Amino acid sequence: MQLEIHDDLAALGAAAAERIIATIAAKPDAVIGLATGSSPLPLYAAWAARATALSLDQSRVRGFALDEYVGLDPAHPESYHQVIAREVVHRVGLDPARVRVPDGMAPAAEAGAAYEAAIAAAGGVDVQILGIGRNGHIGFNEPGSPADSRTRQVPLTAETIADNARFFTSPDEVPTLSITQGLATIMAAREILVIATGSAKAAAVAAAWGDAPVAQLPAAVLRDHPNVTWFVDRPAAADLPDDM
Ligand code: F6R
Repeated sequence: MQLEIHDDLAALGAAAAERIIATIAAKPDAVIGLATGSSPLPLYAAWAARATALSLDQSRVRGFALDEYVGLDPAHPESYHQVIAREVVHRVGLDPARVRVPDGMAPAAEAGAAYEAAIAAAGGVDVQILGIGRNGHIGFNEPGSPADSRTRQVPLTAETIADNARFFTSPDEVPTLSITQGLATIMAAREILVIATGSAKAAAVAAAWGDAPVAQLPAAVLRDHPNVTWFVDRPAAADLPDDM
């Protein structure tokens, strides 16, 4: 794994966005794996700005979101269907018809299999964008998720529900079940960019770079991927060894 520590979020976002821009420039129908949440927002801002500055043709770019809440109306403003539409597709200028989000309203087995089939039919993910949870989750693969997992429903932990309550009017409104790409689905991406910012992520980042087992810390699985770059700010890097 590669590590980039940045002093400010704009520089971090620009460096990560450059990977996406280079991929799309080389392959106009590139498949990008998209994350929701706060971490990738500087990347999306920089991606939008660079694509505009370069007049990059993004009309054929395809996207797959990592996850979605189960049982939340896709028209709800905090459903990941809406978040991806608002914060990525609209902002960056992608074709909404080419961007897919897991179906949180369909039966679990059917929705998981359909999502895996769609990713495979697209030729797999070229670059996957990830954030990391305080408990080391990637996507909604909570601790205990197996390394060979594929897209499936996963109950959210109390910690994740508490973290995501900021997007809802009360913690009781946060869905308790998700559908997420599995760890094996994520690991099949050809390149992975992980964004971690803020001191709340420092312990999870250090554990992922240390020797935490995957069963405890899902992000530890990334140590086995040949092309992962972490984009981390100083507070999130605080618990890493000094020589890194
Ligand atoms: C988002 C996702 C999650 C988040 C993680 C960090 O689609 O799958 O794994 O990346 O919970 O969230 P933020 O970035 O809001 O701290």
